[in-house]
Amino acid sequence: MLMLPLLAVAGNVKSPNGNIELKFSVDEAGRPTYEMTYKNRAVVLPSHLGLELAVDKHASPNLSEPNLLEGFQIVDEQTSEFDETWRPVWGETATIRNHYNELAATLQQTTKEPKYTGKGNEPGLALIPHTRTIIIRFRVYDDGIGLRYEFPQQQELNYFLIREEHTEFAMAGDHTAWWLPGDYDTQEQETQQSKLSEIRSRMQEAVNWGNSSVAVFSPTGVQTSLQMKSQDGLYINIHEAACADYATMHLELVDAQTKALTTKLSGGSNAYTPNPAACSAPLPKPFTFVSHLTPDATGLKGCMQTPCTTPWRTVMVSDDARDMLSSNLILNLNEPCALEDVSWIHSTKYCGVWWEMIVGKSSWNYTDEFPSIKLDQIDWQKVKPNGRHAANNAKVKRYIDFAAKNGLDEVLVEGWNVGWEDWANLWKRDVFDFQTAYPDFDIKMLNDYAHSKGVKLLMHHETSSSTQNYERHMEKAFQLMNKYGYDAVKTGYVGDIIPRGDHHYSQSMNNHYLYVVKEAAKHHIMVNAHEATRPTGLCRTYPNLVGNESARGTEYEAFGGSRPDHTCILPFTRLQGGPMDYTPGIFVTKLKEWSDNTSWARITIAGSLALYLTMYSPLQMAADLPEHYERFDDAFQFIRDVACDWDESIYLEAEPADYITVARKAKGTPNWFIGGKCDENGHQSVIKLDFLDKGRKYDCTVYADAPGAHYETNPQAYTITKRTVKKGDTLKLTEAPGGGFAVSLIAR
Ligand code: NOJ
Ligand code: CA
Repeated sequence: MLMLPLLAVAGNVKSPNGNIELKFSVDEAGRPTYEMTYKNRAVVLPSHLGLELAVDKHASPNLSEPNLLEGFQIVDEQTSEFDETWRPVWGETATIRNHYNELAATLQQTTKEPKYTGKGNEPGLALIPHTRTIIIRFRVYDDGIGLRYEFPQQQELNYFLIREEHTEFAMAGDHTAWWLPGDYDTQEQETQQSKLSEIRSRMQEAVNWGNSSVAVFSPTGVQTSLQMKSQDGLYINIHEAACADYATMHLELVDAQTKALTTKLSGGSNAYTPNPAACSAPLPKPFTFVSHLTPDATGLKGCMQTPCTTPWRTVMVSDDARDMLSSNLILNLNEPCALEDVSWIHSTKYCGVWWEMIVGKSSWNYTDEFPSIKLDQIDWQKVKPNGRHAANNAKVKRYIDFAAKNGLDEVLVEGWNVGWEDWANLWKRDVFDFQTAYPDFDIKMLNDYAHSKGVKLLMHHETSSSTQNYERHMEKAFQLMNKYGYDAVKTGYVGDIIPRGDHHYSQSMNNHYLYVVKEAAKHHIMVNAHEATRPTGLCRTYPNLVGNESARGTEYEAFGGSRPDHTCILPFTRLQGGPMDYTPGIFVTKLKEWSDNTSWARITIAGSLALYLTMYSPLQMAADLPEHYERFDDAFQFIRDVACDWDESIYLEAEPADYITVARKAKGTPNWFIGGKCDENGHQSVIKLDFLDKGRKYDCTVYADAPGAHYETNPQAYTITKRTVKKGDTLKLTEAPGGGFAVSLIAR
């Protein structure tokens, strides 16, 4: 570790290689202002920083809290350099270098504010000078910047409420953007690709979809991580890091009309339906995004107590798209690992009693006998089974056998616990107890059976977003897991949040998700949270957070399907903050071949194999049915072989929404795996194997799309070819429309 004072011009700081320059100042109105360049090209034009505060109306009905927006003076500036290499518990590489130059500006604001000076019930308001100090800290890396607000403990800023954070990101042009509609409750939409100037006109179409919990807020509101590309080829990505005890940030392209619409939100109303007239209004130039935090049930956005900080606001930039994917900026801006013992945390390949329920062939619930159920009023031994319950002893044993035979570590079983009869979006608080199994699921027998075969069961806790209910039962639920030998849980937050009015991405919900991760760590349990807030690198600090869904996963292939380019966008956007439990591996893509579901997955079998490389995660599912893998056993060999923890990763080719090719070296071995995934247009890859060990021979197996393969008309056409290769050899591969390839290179 190295901490050195730097010789820098006050207010300016450059990245270690000099490519990125950050300038900080306070303008005539005392507004903190920053700008950012990359190789002397503008990335962020001068942009303001600050926060708008609210007063607790109950405690101080007559007062207004001064905002932290203007009237600041710089009273101190410190610059330093930091350079450290750390080892993640799991990851894309064995080591990560955290190298940045820092600027910490201490700002002071003095205002005269009306303050209650009377005693007891006496009236008495006086104008009292109010001096408050904040620090704005910038870290400038070779691949981007992070900035955050820090609030030291002080008399005049102790407890405060945030009405809105006003961090601006003024873009230098009308970039192409890959965006999701800003939404307080879901991030499972298809990505939109458009110019910034087209966001408003595209919003109506973008929010026109189905999900169990939706709360859009503005015709120009988008989510992070937002990937952009400028007309002259700069890749720019805006996201956040270390979002803890704070609301998740969205971005809003601001104009007068947007402002008018969003103001309506304060006071707690949450859903905004864009009206077509608002959607066709012109946007101002330059294209300025402003932060927009997720409110809680009161409509406010943060309850703070100093000393405290905001999350880091991040801007990544490069003229090479591959740098967006190999960047560790988000992880580096998170705190080091907080867990002392991490020996129980491991990468996991799993299958599960899951896909057949998603597709609709079998059910999570055990009975159809009652219009609704109360958990404490049912004798489950006596109810009439519906004959479709998937999580039954025979089926789970079949999955355990399949996992054991194919070297998969765990078997997820959903629908094992009582309560699935009436679970979603019914405002039902006591929906699950996470402890009582259905009569046909013998929890002891099945865990013993799995363990006897070297396999573990993977627990499922769907909370139905009834968060207090989950917190009430959690300790006992984790004890039950410890008792039977589960070491991982998939949680879920389907539907609107209970208690009512709160949102999936609010400060209170973000606190809930992290509370679950910390409590789970005490029980040596790994967590994979679905529908939780999008990750911001907290897995560095809590590496038992091994996965999140928090985007449109494979389940949507059974709900109408996703575009073939979807998986060529996610690594640029959703995956920036941490791994995704995408649940890849669908081999029988036309679901009507085996169910009544007419939906179909827009991918070839070779493309499905590629996802185990291109969608990095230490937790990888083989999501299709065992019988489908048995049918294509030669292709399944790749899923048996592929690792999910790595010593080295090299992004060979990348372009958002077009293609991604990556080579990875399996942890603790000399073996390499390569995956290439493309969009609906197909792709040609030429891969020079210059990363292999010199003088070594490798058994190379190539799983490729066969000639004529196509995600729609011919998805199951693949070839498997074997040869011996060495460093310097070249592989030429053709990816079909919606396809891809996978290569294993096993050292001799
Ligand atoms: C949504 C999750 O993403 C999915 O994987 C799960 O099966 C259902 N919720 C039920 O919990
Ligand atoms: Ca989901």
